This record gives sequence, structure tokens and C-alpha cells, in this order.
Amino acid sequence: PYKSFSVVCHQRPNYIPNHIEDPNRIRIFDTTLRDGEQAPGASMTPKQKLDIAHQLAKLGVDIIEVGFPASNKADLDTVKLIAREVGNVAVNDDGRIPVICGLARCHKNDIDKAWEAVKYAKFPRIHIFIATSEIHMKYKLKMSKDEVIEKARSMVAYARSLGCNDVQFSPEDAGRSDREFLYEVLGEAVKAGATTLCIPDTVGYNWPREFGQLIADIKANTSGAENVIISTHCHNDLGLATANTLEGAYSGARQLEVTVNGIGERAGNASLEEVVMTIKSKGELLGGLYTDINTKHIVMASKMVEEYSGLKVQPHKPIVGANAFAHESGIHQDGVLKNKSTYEIMSPEDIGLHRSNESGLTLGKLSGRHALKAKLFELGYNFEGNELNDLFWRFKSVAEMKKVITDDDLITLVSK
Ligand code: KIV
Ligand code: ZN
Repeated sequence: PYKSFSVVCHQRPNYIPNHIEDPNRIRIFDTTLRDGEQAPGASMTPKQKLDIAHQLAKLGVDIIEVGFPASNKADLDTVKLIAREVGNVAVNDDGRIPVICGLARCHKNDIDKAWEAVKYAKFPRIHIFIATSEIHMKYKLKMSKDEVIEKARSMVAYARSLGCNDVQFSPEDAGRSDREFLYEVLGEAVKAGATTLCIPDTVGYNWPREFGQLIADIKANTSGAENVIISTHCHNDLGLATANTLEGAYSGARQLEVTVNGIGERAGNASLEEVVMTIKSKGELLGGLYTDINTKHIVMASKMVEEYSGLKVQPHKPIVGANAFAHESGIHQDGVLKNKSTYEIMSPEDIGLHRSNESGLTLGKLSGRHALKAKLFELGYNFEGNELNDLFWRFKSVAEMKKVITDDDLITLVSK
């Protein structure tokens, strides 16, 4: 569904972020440190943010949105620090330096502060937003459509006048905005110098087909859209953020905004690991799309964000949850023991997960003899025949009382 672009392929190290490269390459824009930090209770210290930014750079994230510099002095200083320390060093495997981005409302002071902070990066970006839905314009901004268009146009132009060559524009609540009005605002933003148009489903209200169509329509109807990158920015209020993001990519978006572990306002944002691993697993079906993320660093990024943000990852969270590669029922364990691909669609090593238990088996009341034997073998015991049978029934009676049987429980059973 996308137009074919002129191709400026993977030139490293003369990487120019705004150049439209291989049309199938997806840019990953991570906003863990900005939108992610907006999750209730998730605030992080400057040192923690710097650590996470380093990890995101290692992961190969293309653009890191590190904060909202006008919101407070600490954010301004942290964005500056990260721009200096992470925005000038190539640490990922193919020598790319990430773009460092700061958020700004359509106010001169916000844009000045954002520029003051990000300009220290080799590739600085200012991300300017203003709401475009009827509800937001009427109740929040108290502005008319014409006033919103004029603000968007003049503030994008102002950011460019400061010397910032990479300006991203977002019509907040685009998912609930009038289409014709959206095309007009976006077209004016492009004319004023925006290089990326981000389309936020701010309240996670769209569903995949609807959001995909929105991206396709914007590409087809916005003046100048063929010269800029279109981005998704999906929230997860209906649990659809990842699906909407992928549908956006399928419809031609070539930048996807995500957060590690999916943290963010309310129900969070599209999760980096889900989006990246789906593209990695199903890129062919998505028309050959791919990212340059080094997925082996995903687990470390997830753990870091979990610890620093204090937001616990639910055990059944796709990709990074504690149970994502654990198998407990007898039928599944038997299958995995015969061949892992029976119940695993990706290898845990692909995301940097090195399980302490090689088999990934978790023993509980649904586990069978095969799993018990394999687990005991991992612990250095080799039980067969009647001995295994006897142990199995004793194991079952303990398992009925406990949710999970640990290695220590098994050792105690054996020693009895
Ligand atoms: O969700 C949203 O609309 C945002 C904007 C600031 C892009 O986070
Ligand atoms: Zn958001």
C-alpha cells in the first residue's frame, strides 16, 4: 500500500536520519523515557534515564524520545545529558547513532527549551504536537480549527528557523479527528518544514482496520506526504496498541512509536518487544518489513525498565513475561521435550533470554512423568522405572498443595 520511494540504502556511518532509505525498513522510535514515564508512579532519576538511553542505543533504536524539556528543569537537564552522552556515540552493532528527540507543545518557550536540550546530539529532533479532535479543541484548547492550523504551521516553521532540520509534528487525538481537517493541518505542517508526521491514537480508541485506513488515507490525501515519514503512536486502552501499530506499518507508516514493556499513560503504549518481534517473525507476510533492532538486548532493556520504573511486568506479558517461555501442562511439556517448536514460536535466545532451566519446564500439578524425569535429569538425577513411578506419585501429592514445585522441593523429595 505504500508508494515506492527513492532509495538511499544503509549508508553508514554517513547516516542521515531524515533520508528515506529502503522502503521496507521500519524506524523504531522509543518513547519509554517520555510517554512511558507519564505512567502513574513511573518517574525515574536522571541516572536511571541515562542508563536506559544507553541500553536503547545498544538495542539499535533509531529515535529516542528522552523527555519534555519545558515541563521542568530536571527534564531539561536530563535531555541535555542524554543528547551529549548517547546522541554522539555509535554503540549498536551497525554503528548507528540514535536521533535524540524532545517533546514540545505549540509554544515558542517549549520549542526553545527542547532545542536548547537536544541540539547537543549529532542528530537532534524536536517533536511538536497540538490537538486536532473536536473534543480537545473545544474543551482543552478552546481554539478554533483555523487557530490550530495557524499554530501548527507557525510553530513548525519556528522550530526550523532555530536550525533544527528534523521536526516531527503530531496532531494529538488524530484517531478521533475529522479527516479533512487532519489532511489540512498535516499538509500545512509539511509545508512549514515538518519531516515526520506522527499520527497518535491518543486514547486508544481505534481498531486495527480503522487505524490502518487512517494511515493509508493520510498518505493518499495529505499534500507533501510522499516526502516525509509517517509514524504511528498507539495507546492501549482497548488492548489494541500493538495490532494497530502493525496495521499502520502495513498501510505505509515507516516509523513506529513504542515503549519498553508497553508502559505509558493509562493502559500504556504499543510495546517495543511485541511490535519488533512480530515484525521479525512475520516480516514476510507484512510485505518484507524489517527493523534494525538487535533483539538480543530486549530482555536486558525490559528488566532495566521494570526495575527503574517500578512497574512490574505481568507474568503472562508476551515476549518478556516470566511465563512467556514456561511450560507447565503435561501435554505441552511432552511436546517441548520432543521438539521446542511444538509450543515455542521463537527462541528465547533471540530476545537474550538465557533460562537457568534449559528445558523451560515449570513443574506443577498438571505436569507428567516425562517432564519430571527431564527436570530431575537437569538437576543431576537419573530415575527410571519403579523409582521414577514412586517419586512421581509423591511429587503429585506435593504439587496438589503448591502452585509451583521449585528445584529445592524436588531435591527434598529425592532426598526422602
Ligand atoms: O498520545 C499522544 O497523543 C502523545 C502526543 C504527545 C504525541 O503522546
Ligand atoms: Zn502518547
